[in-house]
Amino acid sequence: MNLLITCKPNYENILVRELVLDKYLIKEQGNCWILVQCDDSLKQNIAQRQTQLCFAQTILINPIRINASAVNDFAGKLADLFFSSMQGKQIENNLPALCLHADIESLSQRAKSVEITWHKKISKKMPRLAKLLTKPAPFSTKPIEGFFVYFSDFKQAFAAEAAIIGSCLRMQMDENAPSRSYLKAEEAFILLDCQPKANEQIVDLGAAPGGWTYSALKREAKVIAIDNALISPGIANHPNLTHLKQDALKFKPGNKLKVDWLFCDIIEKPEIILQIFHTWLKQGWCKKFIVNLKIGRSDPIAIIKKINDPVTGLIGYCSILKIRQLYHDREEITVTGKRI
Ligand SMILES: C[S@@+](CC[C@H](N)C(=O)[O-])C[C@H]1O[C@@H](n2cnc3c(N)ncnc32)[C@H](O)[C@@H]1O
Repeated sequence: MNLLITCKPNYENILVRELVLDKYLIKEQGNCWILVQCDDSLKQNIAQRQTQLCFAQTILINPIRINASAVNDFAGKLADLFFSSMQGKQIENNLPALCLHADIESLSQRAKSVEITWHKKISKKMPRLAKLLTKPAPFSTKPIEGFFVYFSDFKQAFAAEAAIIGSCLRMQMDENAPSRSYLKAEEAFILLDCQPKANEQIVDLGAAPGGWTYSALKREAKVIAIDNALISPGIANHPNLTHLKQDALKFKPGNKLKVDWLFCDIIEKPEIILQIFHTWLKQGWCKKFIVNLKIGRSDPIAIIKKINDPVTGLIGYCSILKIRQLYHDREEITVTGKRI
């Protein structure tokens, strides 16, 4: 089975290392995509494996390569492929269709033109089906069937009948949020499929100016925000917020404080954050967590290996552990999950 796996720009080589570690055979790579081969027997748990890949975004399953130069030619070839893939299928409800492209200047315009021309051709020959085409949700945890296209450059695209849509969760900014970091917390809740509830206790290490804290306060949770810097005046006096101006790396919740969520977004070496995080998990100080690691000067693959080490890592303490580069992460990765 072949898979086309997309990633953020400049993360191709890191994704290749991650894929090799996971025993995928690399066949080809380009700008924001890697073509790999994996054993057919792995098909069943491919979705599970995708969610374990930190740097993978969307995956096209068994993609077909299309080469064309003019827009009309491209659209015609895609339409032919679409017609043949729909043969014998009974589509009653929505038909997911998605057109993605590599991060190359002006490629989005090209992809859009091809998509419009393709849609006209589909509408002419299969009007009922054309009306059923819908954009899938931006995140899927299992393969979905439909029609998926990835433009890898101006003269090449890949099309597939099944895909796992991942890590393109562009969140909506809240104008009252104190920082854009707010978006990362919001995205992590979707990734974990769990969010703070009213009256749950959060400890937010490195909280200022307060984007993550705001995200929790919005959900009526209680927050202890630890940071020597100031929390945004917009939320500083919130009744559910306690701000402690102290070193977050030394904070211990003690026996009386029951913490539901650990948030940690401190700008510090990942190795140091992992030590603190390890203590929190080992001591059972929190039930759920979102921890952001700044990978700018570290090897992310070494960090992932360290987290996943069954003996010395964090995985042994967790019932759910997801390590992902979020859409809103920059030179960062986010670890979220639940303690056993
Ligand atoms: C990226 S910002 C956090 C942004 C925050 N999550 C938000 O949503 O607005 C990192 C914060 O870590 C804080 N920080 C760094 N080292 C710290 C330490 N040892 N103790 C407490 N805070 C620390 C900085 O003051 C800074 O406010």
